[in-house]
Amino acid sequence: MVKAKVGVLISGRGSNMGALLYAAKHPACPYEIALVAANDPDAPGLTLAAAEGIATFAQSHKGLKRAEFDAIIDAQLRAAGVEYIALAGYMRLLSPEFVAGWEGRMLNIHPSLLPKYKGLDTHQRAIDAGDSHAGCSVHVVTAELDDGPVLGQIEVAILPGDSAGTLAGRILMAEHQLYSRVLADFVTRERQPEWLLGKVRERALALPQADEVTSHGMPCFGIEKGKKFAYFTQDHHGDGIIALLVKTSAPDEQAMLIDSDPARYYRPPYFGDGWVGIRLDLGDTDWDHVAERLARSWREVAPRKLLGLMDVAEEF
Ligand code: GAR
Repeated sequence: MVKAKVGVLISGRGSNMGALLYAAKHPACPYEIALVAANDPDAPGLTLAAAEGIATFAQSHKGLKRAEFDAIIDAQLRAAGVEYIALAGYMRLLSPEFVAGWEGRMLNIHPSLLPKYKGLDTHQRAIDAGDSHAGCSVHVVTAELDDGPVLGQIEVAILPGDSAGTLAGRILMAEHQLYSRVLADFVTRERQPEWLLGKVRERALALPQADEVTSHGMPCFGIEKGKKFAYFTQDHHGDGIIALLVKTSAPDEQAMLIDSDPARYYRPPYFGDGWVGIRLDLGDTDWDHVAERLARSWREVAPRKLLGLMDVAEEF
């Protein structure tokens, strides 16, 4: 199994980093830790990571502008071949450039049931509010602090007499359970059929008068009451692959695409020369390209009247 390379950013103790690291030692874990980086050279978590044979990097942020500091960390992560970032008690606000550069590839763990209690002092705020439960969340990092789609949560009961410290201790246990599970799902989702179909569906149904039906057991996209322009295939006739089939516009386009990237494009059996298969299960799909291919395929089957309307719309 090819493991996804994860970079973990910490600022202190690094117990969540430790939980991710030990989960990664299990042979079935789909990720490995490629680098642990800290914005404090004295962060205790660095010692743990180094003792476990993980590459570490430390750079104090003091005296550096936010974007300058982030660029240094970014360069280290990229040099280590990192594909995903896990923030684990990383107490630095990130620059917009850094967030944009890792869009959809960076997770954070936060000790509250988001969207409640973003920011600091989460445990005391949950106790003061009289909540019955607190907990932790793992979410995708976006430009807003502790915002972004929540991927997983664990609720933790607040006990009578809990202090922020006792509650934090129990939530930390929950954090250690949650983070590696969510991260493992996240790094493998690009190979999961439901996720891939969702990405295709979003783009296909954005085209004018597009609809979805099932044909020969495959989710398939067409123009309402008209022709089909895309099929989503999964293990079709036992071929073991997940792919999108779209129409090609010129007779030699299929051959040209296959020549340009034979691992990605193929001639779909039973469909003939007017179609091309694009594999979606290689882990590096360019979704803008998929959208463009879907739009071209849509144009191939769209009635003239609809095409005319599209052309007019595109002029504006
Ligand atoms: C964890 O409780 C984590 O959820 C929290 O800091 C702690 C770090 O502990 N993170 C945040 O509050 C981020 N907003 P650790 O260094 O032992 O993992």
